[in-house]
Amino acid sequence: MTNNSAGPVGIIGGTGLTSLAGLEIIGQRAVSTPWGEPSSALSEGVIDGQPVVFLARHGDPHRIPPHRVNYRANLQALYDAGVRTVVGVNAVGGIHPEMGPARVVIPDQLIDYTWGRASTFFEDNLEHTTHIDFTYPYSQPARRVLVEAAGAVSLAVSDFGVYAATQGPRLETAAEVRRLERDGCDLVGMTGMPEAVLAAELGMNYVCLALVVNWAAGKTDQIITMADIEAAIDEGMSGVRKILEASARPLGLLSHP
Ligand code: HPA
Repeated sequence: MTNNSAGPVGIIGGTGLTSLAGLEIIGQRAVSTPWGEPSSALSEGVIDGQPVVFLARHGDPHRIPPHRVNYRANLQALYDAGVRTVVGVNAVGGIHPEMGPARVVIPDQLIDYTWGRASTFFEDNLEHTTHIDFTYPYSQPARRVLVEAAGAVSLAVSDFGVYAATQGPRLETAAEVRRLERDGCDLVGMTGMPEAVLAAELGMNYVCLALVVNWAAGKTDQIITMADIEAAIDEGMSGVRKILEASARPLGLLSHP
C-alpha cells in the first residue's frame, strides 16, 4: 500500500439517501466521463472538516432503476474528483436472522447474480487482458472505520454478511431467496455490483454500508410493500447518517492500494 490519502471521501447514496443533511455543501458540479454521464451532479462539501463528494446513485430525484445505473460513469466521476475511498450506501432485504428491517449491516463478502450490466473498465483497446484480484471485495480498513464509527454513536450493527447482488428491478421469489440462503448469502440488494468491482478496478477503497429495509421474500408470511420499506428507511436512515458523519474523517485518512 502506498499512502496517497487526503482526497475527498466519496459517498454513493442509494434508495432513501439522495442528499446528505450533515454535509455543508460547497458546490454542485455536473460532470461527464468517457463512459457517459453519472447518475447525478456531484455534491461537494465537508463533513466534520473532511472533504466529501456525494453522488445519488439513482439520480436526484430518484429515477434510475438499479439495472440502468451507469456504474462506470459514477465511479469514474468520483475518481476524477480525486476520490480514493468510497462508501456505497445500499438498501437491502435481510436474509440472516439478525438482519431485520432497520438493521445496519457492513458486509464482508458478496456474490454477483447480476447480468448484462457494463461491469468492467477493461474491455476495449487493451494491450493485455486484466484480471484484478477480488478475493476481498470490501476494504477491510474502511469496514473497521465504519464499525468503530457505529460503536462511537452507540448503534448496533452487523459486522459481517455476504451480499447477494441481484438484477432487479423486481424483488425475488421466495425460492430464489432460499437459493441465496443455500449459497451462503445474508442480505440481498440490486446495486452492490458492479459498483464494488469497478471501484476495485480503479484501485479505490470501497465499502458497503447497507440498511435492511425489508425481510427478503418468503422470510415472513407477508408480502413486501413499499409502505413497509419506506417505514424501515425512516427508522434506519438516521443511523446510517450518524455513521457517515462519524466516519468521514477517519475514512479520509485511509491509504489506498
Ligand atoms: N431484494 C433485493 N433488493 C432489495 C430488497 C430485496 O428484498 N430490498 C431492498 N433492495
